[in-house]
Amino acid sequence: MTKPHLTIVIPSYKEAANMPLLLEQIHSALGDYPYDVLVIDDNSPDGTAETVRSLAEKYPVSVTVRKDKRGLASAVVDGFKLAGGDIVAVMDADLQHPPAVLPRLVRAIEAGADLAVASRYVPGGSVGNWSATRRVISRGAVILSHLLLPSTRGIKDPMSGYFMLRKDVISGIELSPVGYKILLEVICLGCPHQAVEVPFIFENRRAGVTKLSMVTQTDYLRHLLSLMRRTGEFRRIVKFVTVGGTGTLVNLGLLAVLKEWAGLHYLVAGAVAFEVSVVWNFLLNDRFTFRDRKRPDGTLPGRLLRFNVTSLGGFIIYIAILALLTQVFGLYYIVSAAIGILIGFGWNFMVNSAWTWR
Ligand code: GDD
Ligand code: MN
Repeated sequence: MTKPHLTIVIPSYKEAANMPLLLEQIHSALGDYPYDVLVIDDNSPDGTAETVRSLAEKYPVSVTVRKDKRGLASAVVDGFKLAGGDIVAVMDADLQHPPAVLPRLVRAIEAGADLAVASRYVPGGSVGNWSATRRVISRGAVILSHLLLPSTRGIKDPMSGYFMLRKDVISGIELSPVGYKILLEVICLGCPHQAVEVPFIFENRRAGVTKLSMVTQTDYLRHLLSLMRRTGEFRRIVKFVTVGGTGTLVNLGLLAVLKEWAGLHYLVAGAVAFEVSVVWNFLLNDRFTFRDRKRPDGTLPGRLLRFNVTSLGGFIIYIAILALLTQVFGLYYIVSAAIGILIGFGWNFMVNSAWTWR
């Protein structure tokens, strides 16, 4: 049986000094596996393209030069369009992504995965000698993506720039990354059926300097928002808030009815009204907000119980913040309540999204 052809897409900007060793290492890592390398260069002034062309005598490599510098992610998207292989890999040019990992990625794909991520965050992987600050930022970015983009939850390193996929994962899909986290786009829009992670250690840059700056952090937040819109996660939050609004009306209405007409003590009426509104919210969220997210092992009573526990937690958070901000920080109680409601809602959404409906 012939092995499926592999195309390695490498975005590059000012990486001339890295190309000879990079291509040599790729070649010796892959042995006789059928592959080609596609360098997408943004008209680097250091002669990256010329260097690659001169190496084309030795290795199966070609270079596409784009005249207007459009950035890392769009280079990868262009590379996807040009890639001829049934399997496509993406890696950096600066040898921070060790080519020795390529065979393990290939094996994962051969074993049935349609996406294989070279991962810094599974056992055996690491970020190397990053500063504490960069570690924290990177971890925070992953947590944020897990919270806001549920389809990334199965992947410990959704920000990796080193991965391999079957071409059909991305065929027919419109990728338009805002920042440079192209893998996020692939996971959220490509919907891979079987994604696996292969550990690797993020090496030091071989030569040249990083092109990414602080701008990439705000780019990342914009990218998250844009993906939330495109995957419907944003609409989910709007639905959740709308349901919460109707639940509040049910809560207040029932409180009045139970107290005024049924003559219950207002605290008893309040507790009953609260619980009824929780069930009300649950049923609407189960039917509308999270319809597509029923865990296979879940049952309606099980979800209701989780929703109840979460809501109670949200209520306690609300009361705690109301008391804290008013008593300790001297805020006007309505302001404290508004902040408490906001945080309580955030808690409810996150926990229910990650636990109740997962
Ligand atoms: N074509 C093109 N255009 N390539 C670019 C551009 C650009 O504007 N900017 C950077 N590149 C290329 C670089 O030449 C390199 O091959 C690769 O993209 C990564 O750029 P670096 O500047 O080395 O990025 P990094 O090391 O800070 O970030 C890497 O690690 C991150 C994980 O922390 C990248 O792999 C990121 O994708 C990854 O998220
Ligand atoms: Mn790098």
